[in-house]
Amino acid sequence: MTDAPKRSHGRKAIKLTAQPTDLMAPAPLAHVWTARVITLMPGTFPGILGESLTGKALREGRWQLETINLRDYGVGKHKNVDDTPAGGGAGMVLRPDVVGRAIEDATEGTRGNWPILYMSPRGKRIDQEMARTLSACDGVTILCGRFEGVDERVLEHYGIQEVSLGDFVMTGGEIAAHALLDATVRLIPGVLGNAESIEEESFSNGRLEHGQYTRPAVWKGREIPEVLMSGHHGKVADWRKEESERITRERRPDLLE
Ligand SMILES: C[S@@+](CC[C@H](N)C(=O)[O-])C[C@H]1O[C@@H](n2cnc3c(N)ncnc32)[C@H](O)[C@@H]1O
Repeated sequence: MTDAPKRSHGRKAIKLTAQPTDLMAPAPLAHVWTARVITLMPGTFPGILGESLTGKALREGRWQLETINLRDYGVGKHKNVDDTPAGGGAGMVLRPDVVGRAIEDATEGTRGNWPILYMSPRGKRIDQEMARTLSACDGVTILCGRFEGVDERVLEHYGIQEVSLGDFVMTGGEIAAHALLDATVRLIPGVLGNAESIEEESFSNGRLEHGQYTRPAVWKGREIPEVLMSGHHGKVADWRKEESERITRERRPDLLE
């Protein structure tokens, strides 16, 4: 592969061994959608992303994952990555020189549309539209914070977008990064087997999904709605649409506005 980006010392590509049940795993491609994650806890990746559909897609080379260990860029004998907050106060802040070097290494060889994101409770809330937009990019670089977060100048200097998992504070950005990557990777063409299921699921058409049922037909005295057993595709589609609208109206009226 001649046009593959040069590997830096701190970057580690996550390789999963192909399982016997997998389809033939193609060799990793230079232009495959790639996530580069800067973290103090590289061992938490791929984690759950290495399982199920996202894991299978990773083994098949439909997307690539690389971790950048922030510790490798630390200063001094102890590879320090943080220091006390200017102006005083509790906790520690990730140093701009350390994070800056990691970002510059992580963005080396990136191409096309490849945003840099910082997982942060101050950021734009992750939603389906964000996942869709990211899945259409060439890749993404994700910075996971720890302690009190990262020096503000890093965010300004590199034009980093802040992205939040929700209105709560976690101890680090890794869980949020996993969530964002899971939602994004499943939208990359070829990752999900049945493309139709993406079109019908919650948020794809601005609505929450209707209820789902499967066998047995009667469970603890509860029956599957009759229309779903009728075999009448038109009526099933109408029922699903009505249910989807009813549930959205009840639970998330904001989506209908
Ligand atoms: C303890 S938090 C820092 C919170 C920060 N001092 C504040 O009040 O906004 C440590 C790190 O966890 C991550 N984090 C915490 N909550 C998050 C959320 N809701 N979404 C995304 N990342 C989050 C961020 O990377 C953050 O730098």
